[in-house]
Amino acid sequence: MSTPTAGLGETLVDAASIQRRIGELAAEIDTQYQGLDRPVVLLCVLKGALIFTADLVRRLTIPVEIDFMAVRSYGAGTQSSGRPALSATAEVQLRGRDVLIVEDIIDSGHTAALLRRYLTELGARSVRLVTLLDKTARRTRPVHVDWRGFDIPDRFVVGYGLDHDERYRNLADVRVLDSA
Ligand code: IMP
Ligand code: MG
Repeated sequence: MSTPTAGLGETLVDAASIQRRIGELAAEIDTQYQGLDRPVVLLCVLKGALIFTADLVRRLTIPVEIDFMAVRSYGAGTQSSGRPALSATAEVQLRGRDVLIVEDIIDSGHTAALLRRYLTELGARSVRLVTLLDKTARRTRPVHVDWRGFDIPDRFVVGYGLDHDERYRNLADVRVLDSA
């Protein structure tokens, strides 16, 4: 039987650090939206942000709704195609809503920029962005990030929702993929 951790390198962000940071982010997000008379829409960018969204939402005390959007830019490679495509749209009516995009990681910035533009054109009342991880050194498309969990170096990482060719999403830690 093959070992489930084959190809995995060092742990970049461990599970306990992730949970601690999510608590801090949730407190800041709560403060930002405090006093709003309607729920914020947490827009989870599938599939990578699934686990981050699940943990973050349970640390928030403000009223929220949850919806999903899928964006593809990688396929089986470890380099962004630079041409992300929206492959599913949210079911919640987003016009006039306060939308918080929840991302797993921002790399080139193309995906986040596309989502921000899409939501603005749709007529969202406000659009903010929280990402667990940010490879700021790789940015080719400037994009405003309202909250970031961790700034990480230019390494391909997996775990805590992030995959390589659909594997490793279930790891509790964020780890470097050795072969990348
Ligand atoms: P961007 O459009 O180049 O910013 O890419 C953003 C998307 O690429 C993220 O939402 C991830 O799905 C994926 N991605 C970027 N870097 C990594 C990585 O190191 N591991 C896994 N997925 C990544
Ligand atoms: Mg993603």
